[in-house]
Amino acid sequence: MASPTDTVRIFDTTLRDGEQSPGIALSAPEKIEIARQLDRLGVDIIEAGFAISSPGEREGIRAVAEAVDCVVASLARTSDEDVDAAIESLRGARNPRIHVFIATSDIHMEHKLRMTRAQVLEGADRAVRRARAFCSDVEFSCEDATRSDPEFMAEVVRTAIAAGATTINIPDTVGYTVPEEYIEILNGLRRRVPEVDGVVLSVHCHDDLGLAVANSLAGVMAGARQVEATINGIGERAGNASLEEIVMLLATRAPRYGLQTNVRTEEITRTSRLVSRLTGYVVQPNKAIVGRNAFAHEAGIHQHGVLANRRTYEIMDAESVGLQGSDIVLGKHSGRHALRQAFADLGFTIEGDDLKRAFARFKELADRKGKISSLDLEAIASDSLRDREEPYKLVRLAIRTATGEEARAEVTIQNGEGERTAEGTGDGPVDAAFSAVTRLLDLPVTLVEYAIGAVTGGADALGEVRVVVEVGGRTFAGQAVSTDITEASAEAYLRACAHARMAIEPGKDKELIGV
Ligand code: KIV
Ligand code: ZN
Repeated sequence: MASPTDTVRIFDTTLRDGEQSPGIALSAPEKIEIARQLDRLGVDIIEAGFAISSPGEREGIRAVAEAVDCVVASLARTSDEDVDAAIESLRGARNPRIHVFIATSDIHMEHKLRMTRAQVLEGADRAVRRARAFCSDVEFSCEDATRSDPEFMAEVVRTAIAAGATTINIPDTVGYTVPEEYIEILNGLRRRVPEVDGVVLSVHCHDDLGLAVANSLAGVMAGARQVEATINGIGERAGNASLEEIVMLLATRAPRYGLQTNVRTEEITRTSRLVSRLTGYVVQPNKAIVGRNAFAHEAGIHQHGVLANRRTYEIMDAESVGLQGSDIVLGKHSGRHALRQAFADLGFTIEGDDLKRAFARFKELADRKGKISSLDLEAIASDSLRDREEPYKLVRLAIRTATGEEARAEVTIQNGEGERTAEGTGDGPVDAAFSAVTRLLDLPVTLVEYAIGAVTGGADALGEVRVVVEVGGRTFAGQAVSTDITEASAEAYLRACAHARMAIEPGKDKELIGV
């Protein structure tokens, strides 16, 4: 059996490519919480965002850069403004990396960039030099590499390395390639540009054909020593390569590939849950590594085999990805100090007003359930973080229902300026609450998705609601947890509508309509 000899760097782009998934909009505190957990997980690089896209994005990158020890990357196109925005966002980083990209395929150059090959070469050269003047760690990516003319891409890569790029990334931007073709592309590049062997070769795969992880593995077999991926595989369209899958693949098949990563695999499950909760992207039950059923054995024949010898049907231990039972950590007599400590043990920094709100939630739940598990605490912590950034707060919800009658809801919400109340009617309490909130925010909202889950098992479990709405052709998501499912629904809907209002009518989030 070969033992691991070489290390593959893990570049996490959950906060950049992952955040580009429809409906995801993470606030700075949420980004920080995810970044801290990624740091704990042991990823080598965190790509924190695309600095030029908005002041909020720059703020998020800055906050992440100051919060973690690992390398923090900021993405930039080749224009001076882009590179300067990325530089500004990384001033406080202990280990900054500028990630410059430009498309190299004819279809992108002609129709998207409207640039000639000479202009692309010049842009790559200038941007990498500008980034290198700020930091020694510069990554360069050829967007749509797998559909690019190999000779031209080689020229661009040669130019980027000569300008100072220390990592060369060859993305399968549209998820088009297949493993043996990707190997040919990477081998061809190394043949044409021998200088590639003096920098880190990186792969970045999208999952449009369900091959992102297989292609990433092919890339590693062709010499890549950096893999770019996201937690739970979230990302644009069908998503990116799933980080937990590539890490566990390399760990489980280490005897075959002789490779290792720096990831602490026991942190995988918690990271997956945190990302799912804060992004609102639910993990499919049969997803490899982190799906609810990934380590469950329903069929009698499997259970028998597993009981006799785990290795009959299990190639990995559930413990190796941090999947333990939901342990009881606190009871109803626990105080605020104990709660703060339990949050800290779980990796959350919850202080001040957030802690006050979280404690109120905790007491409410503890009175009902008696015993509070780490899963409950994770849900409460995530919700307090979310609540901190929300412009509107749900102050009161009153529901009246009677057999044969429409349900009526009275909803009071508050923002910095004051409180307003509206009534709504509907087909059941949730529908009535939604219609009251819609009147308060005065938006043409279409409900796209409404999902309820339970944080833990049992009738007294904390309920978790995700709502996606469409406004003006764009989708916005909101999540909330509560012991009362109607309240969680109203809160999640309010958050989704508030996100829509802030995006579509900036500044109007200060106004409450009220009827
Ligand atoms: O998919 C892609 O090409 C990207 C680049 C910006 C690296 O995300
Ligand atoms: Zn991408």
